[in-house]
Amino acid sequence: MYEEEIEKYASDIIESENFKSTKNHFQHGNMTVYEHCMCVTKASLAIRDRLKIKCNDRDLVRGALLHDYFLYDWHLQDEKNAHKRAHGFCHPAIALKNARKEYNINIRQADIIIKHMWPLTIIPPLCREGWIVTMADKYCSTLETLSIRRGEIHERQMRRQKLLNMFRLGRV
Ligand SMILES: [Fe+2]
Ligand SMILES: [Fe+2]
Repeated sequence: MYEEEIEKYASDIIESENFKSTKNHFQHGNMTVYEHCMCVTKASLAIRDRLKIKCNDRDLVRGALLHDYFLYDWHLQDEKNAHKRAHGFCHPAIALKNARKEYNINIRQADIIIKHMWPLTIIPPLCREGWIVTMADKYCSTLETLSIRRGEIHERQMRRQKLLNMFRLGRV
């Protein structure tokens, strides 16, 4: 669902080599930045439809796709690049800078990208498209993080069960 609308407004972005390179970087757990950005874009369109919000669809799609266009793996610590240590605060500005190098980013799209981490970025979004993407990003990130936790708990339970079985069989 929503693939056609994304294609209509942003085929240049989704077909670009740099955007495809986000498939090589992880966001939460084993979810790539590419998958996360697609998820946030679809969730943004779903919020628009569910709440019947009139907005600029093109800006919504393009801003959502590029909101995490920081183009590095934030899990890899790098002492020389302080922005990786403060990823949460720094990446919206880096994403906007990268997006501007390749695309004609208007004021609304810039607002979506730079404010999507609100309230971390203090100043709230100034357009409804920005509010939608901020909500969609939090929704997707929460689900992605919860599924990691669920995986961890499952793994812990499996390990505990294995140990119990070993006790029962007298191997410990
Ligand atoms: Fe982000
Ligand atoms: Fe995000």
